[in-house]
Order: sequence, then C-alpha cells, then structure tokens
Amino acid sequence: MSPPTGEIKSIQPASRPPLEGKAVVLGVTGSIAAYKAADLASKLVQAGAGIDVVLTTAATEFVGATTFEALTHRPVTTGLWQAHSEMSIDHVALALRADCVLIAPATANTLAKLALGIADDPLTATVLATEAPVIVAPAMDADMFASPATQRNVETLENDGVVIAGPTSGRLASGLIGKGRLIDNEVLVGLVRQAVGRHGDYAGRRVIVSAGGTRQPIDPVRFISNRSSGKMGYAIAEAARDRGADVTLVSAAGMPDPAGIKVVKASTVDEMRNAIVPSSSSADLLVMAAAISDFTPARVSDQKIKKQGSGGMSLELAQVEDFMPQAHGRYLVKVAFAAETSNVETNAAAKAAPKGAAFVVANDVSEPGSGFGTDANRVTFVDAAGNSEALPLMAKLDVAHAILDRALPLLKAH
Ligand SMILES: Cc1cc2nc3c(=O)[nH]c(=O)nc-3n(C[C@H](O)[C@H](O)[C@H](O)COP(=O)(O)O)c2cc1C
Repeated sequence: MSPPTGEIKSIQPASRPPLEGKAVVLGVTGSIAAYKAADLASKLVQAGAGIDVVLTTAATEFVGATTFEALTHRPVTTGLWQAHSEMSIDHVALALRADCVLIAPATANTLAKLALGIADDPLTATVLATEAPVIVAPAMDADMFASPATQRNVETLENDGVVIAGPTSGRLASGLIGKGRLIDNEVLVGLVRQAVGRHGDYAGRRVIVSAGGTRQPIDPVRFISNRSSGKMGYAIAEAARDRGADVTLVSAAGMPDPAGIKVVKASTVDEMRNAIVPSSSSADLLVMAAAISDFTPARVSDQKIKKQGSGGMSLELAQVEDFMPQAHGRYLVKVAFAAETSNVETNAAAKAAPKGAAFVVANDVSEPGSGFGTDANRVTFVDAAGNSEALPLMAKLDVAHAILDRALPLLKAH
C-alpha cells in the first residue's frame, strides 16, 4: 500500500449536507440537560440546517440566548412579547417556515402543556401552529418520567403523531440511575433527517443494506475478518432513510445504531445470509456493502486452541459460498460492491452477472484516502455489459446518494 499523500487533507465534507436548506425550530426547556442543547444546535448547523432556537423562561435559568445566537447566527426567541420576525408574530412565522420542530430537552411541564394544547409561551404556541413533524426528547428525574401523569401525556402526544425520542436509562443529574436521560444528540439529528426527508424520492421503498466485515470464528476467542469499517454501508442506510425509505441495516460493524433505521446485528456470513435472503423477497433494493468473508476456517474449535511447544500452527480455510445470488424478490434490484486491489473494473464487471446485480460499486481499496475505514471513497459503477462510470474521490455520504440516484430509475421500472 502506498503511503498517505497530502490529497487526503483536501477532502471536503459531504457536498450535500443532509439538512441543507431545511428549517428546524429547536425548543429548549428548563431541564438540567439544557446544556446539551448547545451541542445539538451546533450539530444541526453542521448538518446544514437553519436553526431557530426558542427558549422557555425556565430554560434561560440554565443556558443563555447568547450561546445559541452565536452557534446559529440567528436571533433566539425567549418570550411571546418579544418579536423578531418580519410578521412580528414569532410563533406563527416559525411554525410556518419550520420543516421540523424538535424539543430537546423537554421537561415534564412542557410535555403536559403540549398534551393539553396550552400555548402560553412561544414554544408551545409554535407547536400548536405548525404542520411540520414534531419530535420531543424528554429529560427528567426517573420518577417524574414514570409518573402516571407524564406517561399519560406521552401517550397522548404519541397518539397525536408526535415522535417521542427517549429518554434513555443511565445516570441522572441527581446521581440516581434510572430512565430519564436525554437521548444522544446524534440520534436526535438522525431523527430530524428522517422527519424532513419522509416524503423523499425513496418514500415507500424498502431498502436492505449490509455493512461491515464479517468475522469467521477460529475458536471461542479468535476469528478471521477484514478491514471493512462499515462506514460506507451506514452512509447508504442513512442516505436512504433521509430520502424516505424504510431501511433495514444488516450490520457486522461495531458502529452506533443510526436513528430511524432497523438494525439487525449479524457477525458471521451465516448470520448475514439468514438476515438478508428471506427478507429480500419483499424488498425493493438490496445494497451489499458488507465485506463478506471469502474464506472461513475449515473447522471451528469449540475450545481455545493452545500453543503446542514452540511450534507454529496452520489454519485450513474453506471457500465461503456467495449468498447474493440467493437473494430474490419480484421487484428486487440488487447492487453489489467489489473491493479490489488490481484490475478493478474487469474484476468488478465479472461479479455483476453471477450475483444478479444491476451494477457493481467497485473501489480500489489500496488507494490512499479511499475505501476501508476512511470517510471518502473513489468508486466506479460497473455493470455486467461492461459499461462503467468513474466518480471522483467523494465523501461516503455523497457516494451513497450517487448509488441511490443510479438505482432509483431501476426501481421505478418495476
Ligand atoms: C435545578 C433544576 C433542574 C431541573 N431539571 C428538570 C428536568 O431535568 N426535567 C424536568 O422536567 N424538570 C426539571 N426542572 C423543573 C423545571 O425547570 C420546571 O418544571 C419548569 O417549570 C419547567 O418549565 P418549562 O417547561 O417551561 O421549561 C428542574 C428545575 C430545577 C430548579
């Protein structure tokens, strides 16, 4: 493998930030977790969204408007009688322009007001006035969350179509352990991406994506695997979710589960096959981004293999049968991946027909800054007829969208 070059430094973030052009109202209420909302605002801005922050009066006891103004480059709304908008009615203006309203953290008090339709502050008034999807992330003491009143309010809001995100279990500010922690900001950004993309060009499509490198056991403590990180597959799953698809991610990778995606963990080739082949009959698109082992130990020891004196050991490997040809569905379009280190296009083209793939995404994994473990990839789309289209070095999220762009007309042909 050649040494890394300065080229890697020139990689830009995804050219299509996932929330570009989207307006998100971020409501922050008077929870001790309010400090986390500053990081959330920053992450949403980095994802390309325009953020209008609304603070309740109680929230201003925990965090200041200046922090959010500096992060979002926009004025922050803190009271019903303090108007910024050109229409001078902030909550109506915000409600109209919002593509999504996210309340994080949400107090028990605000949950109760939302459930009853009370609108005595700019945040609750915005929620009443908006037609955009609303995501609410509660954060409170575990007993407050478990109380019959809060549970009733959560149920009412769910029935009204509000997405309730979390809370999760763990250590609370009180020092107690329980269910009341604000859900992670990465998950909230993912839920916003899903909400704003719900009517996208993949709406109603079922997409299965595999990711990561399979691990074939040698004995109870050892395995053979490959260098696949799973980043490419996760980017495809997230891009499909962002375009409205119903996504199942079959993962051999150790990455955190993306929000709004059904994740099935599959470590070995057998587990991958069992998770993918039966469910592909009802899917529209299968993208096999996982690096599936080509070879597996011919025998698996049920005891840890011990050293024998000073001698070495040899491992006999058997070839693994490719299960992609077994994935069938009346409307299924299949996309394969080929990680190559030489003759990339020829090798990839030879894989398309046996796998039944509409096209193969070929990448030269020996190229610096591209392929396994990196955030960028230089790929070539190759079909069985030998047609090829080479793309430049791109962020994996951009590659993911390019794959979905090429697959979409094939799906529509059904
Ligand atoms: C130090 C402190 C921490 C608080 N943390 C929470 C909390 O995490 N969750 C919650 O529901 N209420 C919490 N409260 C209570 C709320 O701030 C209070 O119910 C307030 O009226 C909420 O107003 P809001 O919903 O308009 O923001 C806390 C209060 C104090 C003084």
